[in-house]
Amino acid sequence: MIKVTTSRGKAGKSKCDVLALLFVEGVKDLSDAGKAADKATGGALKRLLKEGFEGKKAESLVIPTGSGSSFSWIALIGLGPRDKLDGETYRKAGGRLIRALNGKKTPRCHLEFPEQKITGLSDADLVRALSEGAMLGSYKYTEFKKNNSNKGVKTLAVYSSAAGLKQAVDIAGVVCKEQALAMDLCNRPGRELYPESFAKIAAADAKKLGFTCKVMSEKELERRGMGGLLGVGQGSDRPPRLVVLHYSGGGKSKKPIVLVGKGITFDSGGISIKPSAKMGEMKTDMSGAAVVLGALRAAAQLKLKTDVYAVMALAENMPGGGAIRPGDVLRSASGLTIEVANTDAEGRVVLADALDYAKRLKPKYIVDVATLTGAAAIALGSPAIAMMGTDEDLIAKVSAAGLAAGERTWLLPLWEDYDELVKSDIADVLNVGNRREAGTIVGGVFLKKFVGDVPWVHLDIAAGSWNSISHPYYGKGGTGKGMRLLVKLLENM
Ligand code: BES
Ligand code: ZN
Ligand code: ZN
Repeated sequence: MIKVTTSRGKAGKSKCDVLALLFVEGVKDLSDAGKAADKATGGALKRLLKEGFEGKKAESLVIPTGSGSSFSWIALIGLGPRDKLDGETYRKAGGRLIRALNGKKTPRCHLEFPEQKITGLSDADLVRALSEGAMLGSYKYTEFKKNNSNKGVKTLAVYSSAAGLKQAVDIAGVVCKEQALAMDLCNRPGRELYPESFAKIAAADAKKLGFTCKVMSEKELERRGMGGLLGVGQGSDRPPRLVVLHYSGGGKSKKPIVLVGKGITFDSGGISIKPSAKMGEMKTDMSGAAVVLGALRAAAQLKLKTDVYAVMALAENMPGGGAIRPGDVLRSASGLTIEVANTDAEGRVVLADALDYAKRLKPKYIVDVATLTGAAAIALGSPAIAMMGTDEDLIAKVSAAGLAAGERTWLLPLWEDYDELVKSDIADVLNVGNRREAGTIVGGVFLKKFVGDVPWVHLDIAAGSWNSISHPYYGKGGTGKGMRLLVKLLENM
């Protein structure tokens, strides 16, 4: 990932490989750096603005300069119309800038960031968003590649006189480093990443970053009666784990916030096996655990004044000889029995035990994150995170954090009318809907049984946790979606 720095100097006068300029749609006046760029291109910039480049939101252009200027290229990035500018516009612009320079020998990029004057958003907020987009846009999963191209941008220096700039960029750096870790884990094949190896990664740096880590192996899971997590994991040669991290930045007096993540390191569906097309993408079914891990690590590095737990339910869902069968009944740690009608609805079963553990910590809030239902992708598609919950206040907080982080949520209901959908004939609760409707809500209704009275929000990130389309700052593969939302939520607490 690239590095982002800040400067208060004049972008047009400093030596670099590429000078980047932002354009609001239809605005033709040149800033100081714009004038320098125009001079360096022998007047080409002015002509472009007159008869070619409009500053539309997906527009970008890279042109070489003549000899005798302090930079070899200029990059023009369109932001779109003034009245539509928001944080996400700048995040996307950052991604597009880095992508536009891919393949060019432009290690040092200087970006002029003149005052933006957007109501409700400080320039520091916008620079944070732009830096996030630039860093994420430069992410590549390289663990299994021999040749990595060394071209493109290495460092981006943002030139601005805004207040709080350095802090904004530093926060973006921490958040994106952790999001990159989440993306690495999502992209890492199931052969490499399994409950035990995930737990090792979660435990790493605990001392250095100032949090504690508890890894529970089968014995302890048995002792705690976590039949849900054990049941899902029993078809795999790699045993399940429950990992609990604790960062206590809020002092002893504050009630903690517990983040819970679904960590299925590979979801074959189990005996209710999935079709083979795209089954490989199910290595990313631990996204929820990866983002709660990243969020807690970020909270520790940013020294946020909150008490945070991350609870990760890790298992591999495989159809081995010891696997649970459709029709089996599991006894969860809460005491509730679960009829497993479909072994592919395994996320909610492992979360049942993780949420029960979370509840016993007597937290202020519980937020769980899970790639839970394909139905979320059908209903809302990749731009949205499906949200359900039991507490208006927490729902509002999560919604605001998602908006600010460029990870928008959409609320689905958990009305009592839906409760009958998870009624089982032989157990306390059924792991799929007993009618073919409201697939995402059924997941939420099931989880609600395990959180008791604690204010709780469930985020179904199944849509968009794996990107397979062309996106301004995500490449193909795991996105670590939900990470930035969680960090923002913790910042706002
Ligand atoms: N991990 C999947 C959900 C999923 C699907 C995530 C596509 C990302 C992309 C989950 O465990 C699952 O298989 N859910 C089933 C539930 C059904 C059996 C009630 C589904 O969505 O089909
Ligand atoms: Zn599944
Ligand atoms: Zn799954």
